[in-house]
Amino acid sequence: MMRLQKYLAACGVASRRSAENMIAAGRVAVNGQTVTEMGTSVEEYVDEVTVDGNVVTLEERKVYILLSKPKGYVTTAQDTHGRPTVLDLVDVPERVFPVGRLDLNTEGLLILTNDGEFANHMMHPKYECEKTYFARLAEPLGDAEADKLRHGVWIEEEQFTTSPATVVRRDANKFSITIREGKKRQVRRMFEAVGGKVLYLRRTAIGKLRDTDLEKGKWRYLTDEEVRYLLEYSGTGRD
Ligand code: URA
Repeated sequence: MMRLQKYLAACGVASRRSAENMIAAGRVAVNGQTVTEMGTSVEEYVDEVTVDGNVVTLEERKVYILLSKPKGYVTTAQDTHGRPTVLDLVDVPERVFPVGRLDLNTEGLLILTNDGEFANHMMHPKYECEKTYFARLAEPLGDAEADKLRHGVWIEEEQFTTSPATVVRRDANKFSITIREGKKRQVRRMFEAVGGKVLYLRRTAIGKLRDTDLEKGKWRYLTDEEVRYLLEYSGTGRD
């Protein structure tokens, strides 16, 4: 709950002093009722407050969170099968949502935010934001197959050819792979397209953003520097 004049100021309508004048002048209504008393409290995000008939809303603080997603969590806000979602792992007052998706059984870095424009930029293929994964396969994969991934492979289910990927061999059956799109199960399907089967998948970087210290299931706010980097990297605010 918040005092009405404080609420109006928080919404950026006016200073608290001018807000008091607006209230006294009968220009402010709460849930359709004109309010002229200063003591009135309103509940943020529940009560509808209008000034001269126009609804005013609280500008939510933009938050940017980095989560180390464990296996067994879905990245949708709600799961029809009642499985736990990544939102069960973060505890912030803002309504955040995941930027892009990771499969139920994929681990690793996931950004959550309430900044819709930023999320769109990060996910849209046009901005070519890179995601890097560590993949362990059931069997060794040959150099010729790894090379095919570097050039792009046809994904039957999505009817599209992947753009060139950076593929670094870590072991006979272990690879780092960097992609610039984010189609459903893309990395798993890319390896399938060249005869491989991914047994373990973890996202290790988003652009240059990495964090090997963040424990599985834990989250933290991104630093101002990281946020600045990601906004710039994704071209947020440029168009
Ligand atoms: N590619 C996949 O196959 N799965 C993920 O979760 C992310 C990328």
